[in-house]
Amino acid sequence: MTPEEINTLWRSLSRLYPAWSLPIDMFVSPSTWRLLGADLSASIVKDRRARRVATALAAAPAEALPVMADMARINVWRTGDIFRTVAVGYITLPITLAALLSEAAPDMLRTAVMSNIGQTAYWVIVLAATPIVYFCGMWRAKQLQWAIEYYKTGAIQPLPEKASETRDEYKIPRHLNPTPAAPRTIRMEKTGRLKAFSSHMRVALFGASGGIGRALLDLLVADPHVSEAYAGARRPAAAAHSKVIPFRFELTDEASVADAALQISADGALDLVIVATGVLHDAALQPEKTWRDISPDAFARAFAVNATGPALIAKHFLPLLARDRHTVFAALSARVGSIEDNRLGGWVSYRASKAALHQVIRSCAIELARKNKTATCVSLHPGTVDTALSAPFQRGLAPERLFTAAFSADRLLSVIDGLSPAESGYAFDWNGARIPF
Ligand SMILES: NC(=O)c1ccc[n+]([C@@H]2O[C@H](COP(=O)([O-])OP(=O)(O)OC[C@H]3O[C@@H](n4cnc5c(N)ncnc54)[C@H](OP(=O)(O)O)[C@@H]3O)[C@@H](O)[C@H]2O)c1
Repeated sequence: MTPEEINTLWRSLSRLYPAWSLPIDMFVSPSTWRLLGADLSASIVKDRRARRVATALAAAPAEALPVMADMARINVWRTGDIFRTVAVGYITLPITLAALLSEAAPDMLRTAVMSNIGQTAYWVIVLAATPIVYFCGMWRAKQLQWAIEYYKTGAIQPLPEKASETRDEYKIPRHLNPTPAAPRTIRMEKTGRLKAFSSHMRVALFGASGGIGRALLDLLVADPHVSEAYAGARRPAAAAHSKVIPFRFELTDEASVADAALQISADGALDLVIVATGVLHDAALQPEKTWRDISPDAFARAFAVNATGPALIAKHFLPLLARDRHTVFAALSARVGSIEDNRLGGWVSYRASKAALHQVIRSCAIELARKNKTATCVSLHPGTVDTALSAPFQRGLAPERLFTAAFSADRLLSVIDGLSPAESGYAFDWNGARIPF
């Protein structure tokens, strides 16, 4: 990490603990007021602020954690020293001075105090308040250090992407959800390793040239369970690893997808198909800010790439999934494709095309359940990821809300590894939580 990256991450963490807010959450935050008893860990691991620290650290590169822990330790040490200096300087010295003066010249001191009673009161308050401010700063520095240290132990979980992602808000009215047993979250481990699959996995990845696609390919290649990774792109790069077999396809050209299926099926059945393609903006398409921006061409483009393209891949690749073992077909979608979760409007064609993708996945999953009992078909939201697709829309986004492609890919593979046919047809986010349709 560069010094600039370190300082940016540090600032985003320390902003979570402003000194001024301490007196308020002395009363409202359990992690602050619960300071009695033998177990003081339970409250801090549930504390939203500590979990936001965990979210930021989970999204940062792995080497950031020890660096942030060191910075937090130094910060505690500095704020503690400054608090002690201020406390001694602001309280002890004036009191000592007043004591000496009252001994040496009591009348003069009394007259001076009585004739300037307003000013005297002002200075007494300032002298008493300043150490309190520094005390709050020191206490905040300690809280930040505790949050980082607890995260290091693995006890603190990152928050879901936004408050609305809490499980309770996912409760779908019963009349809209005839399958009450529908999964809410799925079992997943922290690292994206594919343990639930065969030990000689054959994987087909569409969109290997994209930001998330490249990161997925890196992880797939590094996974000992993967023996062949077919990497599809419009302009395939030369294979950088012996496991990688590049192939060409274009989503708007069904023949190219069919050819790819023919070529790949010649070597045997597949264990995993990931569709990591998608478009939000290009020369002909810009996300709409209002209904006035809606255009048939933009709609056609968004649907061709985000809905029809993955549907064609499903058509040609679902039949290639092995029938005798655990297999998964996963298409990258977006939370904004959720109709129920749409609270902002805008981005009409992108939202609509991703909602259509959810419907494609649901329909295919129902048919797949009849034809292949061990297969699972889902759509996945990768989080907001730092790629060319999101680049124009990252302004104002808190750093902890923007994932690296490597982090997102790791989480997506963890989610994929935790899937079972019971989850088929649904949409899940990078954290394994179900996204309402
Ligand atoms: N990044 C985010 O914050 C974010 C958030 C939510 C959801 N997602 C979803 O995650 C997926 C991957 O996004 P990303 O961020 O990795 O985007 P990206 O870096 O722009 O990659 C998009 C990929 O799609 C491919 N593609 C686009 N049009 C195609 C076509 N007509 N035929 C074949 N391939 C085509 C691109 O190929 P070329 O390299 O040839 O252009 C590229 O490989 C998308 O479905 C996106 O909607 C991303």
